[in-house]
Amino acid sequence: MDQRDKRSHDMAKLPIGIFDSGIGGLTVLKTLYNAFPAESFIYVGDLGRSPYGSKAADTVQRYALQITDFLLHQGVKMIVIACNTASAVAGNAVRHRAHPIPVIEVVGCGAKMALEMLPEELSEDARIGILGTDTTVKSEVYVKRINELALKTGLKLPDIQQQACPLFVPLVEEGWWQGELSDKIAERYLHSMKSFEPHVVILGCTHFPLLSGPISRALPEGTVLTDCAPAVVREVRTILDDRGWHAAERTDVAESNRGKTVFYCSDTGDTFRRQAERFLDMTIEFVHHVDLEMYEDGEGLECFPQPI
Ligand code: DGL
Repeated sequence: MDQRDKRSHDMAKLPIGIFDSGIGGLTVLKTLYNAFPAESFIYVGDLGRSPYGSKAADTVQRYALQITDFLLHQGVKMIVIACNTASAVAGNAVRHRAHPIPVIEVVGCGAKMALEMLPEELSEDARIGILGTDTTVKSEVYVKRINELALKTGLKLPDIQQQACPLFVPLVEEGWWQGELSDKIAERYLHSMKSFEPHVVILGCTHFPLLSGPISRALPEGTVLTDCAPAVVREVRTILDDRGWHAAERTDVAESNRGKTVFYCSDTGDTFRRQAERFLDMTIEFVHHVDLEMYEDGEGLECFPQPI
């Protein structure tokens, strides 16, 4: 094996790091877990400091960089920012910190999915709705990305309407994914979005796919809801293919040969574990506690645990 092959072989054995402010990123983890059974994952939910969506951009960037340092020192072959808010305000900073480890962020993936989901005959008068946290909506990151992509592909710029839905985040963390209260809150937030009659609505916060029932009911029938997960799978696959970093030669491994998934939470792990088990439909033996403040500007790095 030459040096280059050996390096690919070593990298292939490492897990993929994924993070979010809480359980929202599990919507991305679940899709990756099903698409890549041989891969191992490290998931970090920063529940002790969530929600991110109502915090200043600088604060979210600081949190995202601490998690990045934590993941890098665990030893990961790739980082997926499974949080739109962190992608919006810290995507570049995380990429810079993690280099040469590749970073995938969900906003670019969500914008691509929205344009792909538009029926072809709508290339002239497409209307796209964006739902996100306050910080994501204020950053206008989706509007910019969609317009850039539309220009690149020669599409007429779509009409875009944004709506911040901050209460959706604690609703999801509480596990209220269905029911009268969730329907009422969705109706209240989406009143003006309903009148806009969007063709496609981007669930621009990774918590929101868990509320797709109430969200669909509050929008005109036939509105297509889209999230980033399928495009994240594509980007992960491209990186694994291009660099020869698949954990196993066969990607359709048996259940007994699955990679490991390890969970870290910055708060007590109980609520996180309960909701994660319910959503992922798996038993989680243990949620590790992590003190992310220790990873301020690379401090405390000597205390990192061993890679899984
Ligand atoms: N799930 C996150 C997102 O995609 C953040 C939610 C929050 O913490 O406010 O934006």
